[in-house]
Amino acid sequence: MNILVINGVNLNLTGTREKGIYGEETLDEINAELRAFAEGKGHSADFFQSNLEGELCEAIQSAQGRYDGIVLNAGAYSHYSIAIRDAIAATSLPVVEVHMSNVHAREAFRRTSVLTEVCRGEILGFGKRSYLLALESFFL
Ligand code: DQA
Repeated sequence: MNILVINGVNLNLTGTREKGIYGEETLDEINAELRAFAEGKGHSADFFQSNLEGELCEAIQSAQGRYDGIVLNAGAYSHYSIAIRDAIAATSLPVVEVHMSNVHAREAFRRTSVLTEVCRGEILGFGKRSYLLALESFFL
């Protein structure tokens, strides 16, 4: 399987922002671990990050036909981007929503995701392991 891992707004700052919440590893370091994990199981993973909502929609659109599934941490867009929700609804690819933090244990506005209903599933609260678990869900 070939999985596309998409990170949205501010996730490029992982490792430097709010380390108590998101950890000390950079996104590149996490992605390297994800790649090794996928390859170790005989699969592959590619990576895309953008702070721009439209670019995230384009990444979801263009994954069709090139990937078997998407792991998506849309960051704050998860809570209000109808455009990203529509892009997920439009693709036939399964999308697994990811959050590193337990969004239900934080501010009230993080408890709602407009994406979850159109995703295959959601994994949250396990730090970088949220991504690993989401990837693994495609390999089971
Ligand atoms: C996040 C949670 C969001 O609420 C937040 O805006 C992020 C990261 C997470 O991975 O825990 O940027 O998606």
